[in-house]
Amino acid sequence: TAEDMAFGYGKIILTGEHSVVHGTHAVAAPITLTMKAKVWAADKDVQLIIPRWGVEQTLKFGEDHEYSIYKSLEMILDRLELRDRGMNIEVVPEVPRAMGMGGSAALAVAIIRALDRHFQIGLSDNEVRELSYESENIVHGGASGIDNTVSTYGNLLMFQKGTPPEMETLNLEEPIPIVIGLSGVESMTAKMVRRVREEYEQQPDWYGEIFHKMDKLALESKEAIEEFDLKRLGRIMNLNHGYLNALNVSSPEVEELISIARENGALGAKLTGGGGGGAMIALCDSESSQQKIQHQMHSAGYDALITSIKPSVSKEV
Ligand code: PMV
Repeated sequence: TAEDMAFGYGKIILTGEHSVVHGTHAVAAPITLTMKAKVWAADKDVQLIIPRWGVEQTLKFGEDHEYSIYKSLEMILDRLELRDRGMNIEVVPEVPRAMGMGGSAALAVAIIRALDRHFQIGLSDNEVRELSYESENIVHGGASGIDNTVSTYGNLLMFQKGTPPEMETLNLEEPIPIVIGLSGVESMTAKMVRRVREEYEQQPDWYGEIFHKMDKLALESKEAIEEFDLKRLGRIMNLNHGYLNALNVSSPEVEELISIARENGALGAKLTGGGGGGAMIALCDSESSQQKIQHQMHSAGYDALITSIKPSVSKEV
């Protein structure tokens, strides 16, 4: 059953995607959607089963895999010294694929935790975070580590990349109402990260200044969250989106969703995740505002989810 499955959280980034790859702070939160996984013994071979995606495949080690998920799984089994064990790995994916909600990191965390549970390895959260970071770098090279960190700990946190990264759990008085608008267009995280890097190399002064401003916004968003000043947080998110536009990582659908959110009373709205498609988030001041925005997004033909950022479940990071 789903209850006895291990899981990794999906996430939204409130401030600092892309700039975080270049060393700035960023603030991200887990969402209630997770990737779930379960391992059970088999005589031989490693079989990956994802019924919802129609995947049922025996892993062949060392082959050129079509999907990076197999490469990542191979690496994980290698690191945990499990590649000679027979097993079935079943995954229940709730996080939409390629929507800028950290699905790949959540998948890695879920599989690592399921392996840890089945083979009683006794991994610490820190080890889960490190291993899922390696997986992220296989899936899209040059990852900052923010996705897999939030996915591992499940806390609202401020993050700065490094070895180990700087991670600070943020205190929150009460839940923050959010609407996630889905563009329906696959997010292209790897491509967007590459594009930003190339432009940065061409125009280091301008990009350096933009990243610096994005860093300031992320630091200020932490203050706004801890003071529960949602109006200020909304303004910060709007500014952050302006800088993401300067980096050219948005898309027409995401822009339309942002307009819908702002016209219907959102305190702030921005792209979340890698962009080039994917998702946006709208910060709301009430449940009725969430419902109105969701309704308008549906009317325009988009999927939209009502969710909230919750006070952290544990203090540990
Ligand atoms: O698109 P996602 O959910 O994988 O988020 C990517 C966030 C980036 O800042 C663009 C990349 C990264 O590794 O931090």
